[in-house]
Amino acid sequence: MSDHLSAPMDLKLRDVETASRMMRRYYRTVKETMRAMAGYLPAMRWWPGKKLLARHIWLDSLHADMLRLRTLDLRYPRVDVEDNADVNLLFTLEKIPTAPTDEQFLHSVYEIIKPSMIKALNEYLDASDPLDDAPSHLYLKRVIDELNMELQEYDKIMRESPGAANADEHGEWITAISGALSSCGGFHGPDQPINPSAASVLEGLVYELPMEGGRDASWMPAVTQVSPRPARNFTEEQIAAAVDHANEVWASETPAALIWEYKNMPWELYHGAARWCYDEIRHAMMGVERLTDMGLEVGVDYPMVPDHWRAFRSRGVRHLLLLLHRLEQGGPRNKSSMKTKFMEKNDLAAAQDCDYDWADESGHISYGVAWLKAVFPEWSKQQTIDEGNNIAQEWSAWIGSHHVNGTHGYEGFLERMDKKLEALGLAPDK
Ligand SMILES: [Fe+2]
Ligand SMILES: [Fe+2]
Repeated sequence: MSDHLSAPMDLKLRDVETASRMMRRYYRTVKETMRAMAGYLPAMRWWPGKKLLARHIWLDSLHADMLRLRTLDLRYPRVDVEDNADVNLLFTLEKIPTAPTDEQFLHSVYEIIKPSMIKALNEYLDASDPLDDAPSHLYLKRVIDELNMELQEYDKIMRESPGAANADEHGEWITAISGALSSCGGFHGPDQPINPSAASVLEGLVYELPMEGGRDASWMPAVTQVSPRPARNFTEEQIAAAVDHANEVWASETPAALIWEYKNMPWELYHGAARWCYDEIRHAMMGVERLTDMGLEVGVDYPMVPDHWRAFRSRGVRHLLLLLHRLEQGGPRNKSSMKTKFMEKNDLAAAQDCDYDWADESGHISYGVAWLKAVFPEWSKQQTIDEGNNIAQEWSAWIGSHHVNGTHGYEGFLERMDKKLEALGLAPDK
């Protein structure tokens, strides 16, 4: 479907000016689709869909980076590469997160935008000179290759999840998005007004980040992910470490939310946050993998809850960044000592997870510093440190009070976990 999106004109590329204008529009398409995916990621409830988005946000940021560099190569002034000349295209892409359901969101990204992008980039390759424009050829072939990989990964999760409903492709919202994209000049441009019927559906829609990160509908609810019962043996320590890892979903949602919330930031901030978002989903997946190996079912035998957002989201996304950055500052030291401990106990899989996590965390600290400076420009370095310490203390107090008051919502998980451990012969000696 959507063949018409990428071919509004007969492509005959013969000059640098045309090439750079088109390259810029591809850059903006990939970047703004990536921002839309980042905006929707916290809302996404379906776990396979959330993991897919985090990975592809990072891949797309690499693609946007190449397209941006190539646009600048083609005599495009640095300042203009970021301005909003393609207004109708940008208007449409900004509406993508207003999808009424997870399925419709995924459909718009993976069955409309990305296939059309592949087609548009192939048309560019066919119409441009492979010698004169060789760097574009090299970049675009990489982008096309990886977009095809993204589509295969999307098909795979849709096939493997019997519960994944297909979106109605004739529904009003999808029809409007598709109509807006084809009438705005597609991905090649030039930019044109959107057809009035699509515009009338999309105009009033505004996406707001959710107050809590969405969690899979099949998972059981809880308030905190930290167990009120301290570990009683090494198996329970392994479980606690893995549950903590699994619940780093919020740490993926936070940089994703920043990418959406803060428009027109320097490109480097988005580029770093995209990698941060993917790393944290990988850390969560490491935890889920360890627990699955131990026979524990995600969201059923242990909780997967957005407790950090629950405690602080009402203050704004930048305060979640503050908390995340503060907690990450202890990360490299904690992860290196956990690695040593797991090595001593011969849990090599957990030791390896901690080792790679530790490597990722060093990057996150520099992304965090850059974002904090950008979103709290009024704070001195000392104030940032003080505010970070304050919110970390509040966070411990928040968890502590749920434990003391018995409002953690963990009882059912402890019961199920104990039964599983007993059945597996891993229960602690009484
Ligand atoms: Fe992490
Ligand atoms: Fe991190």
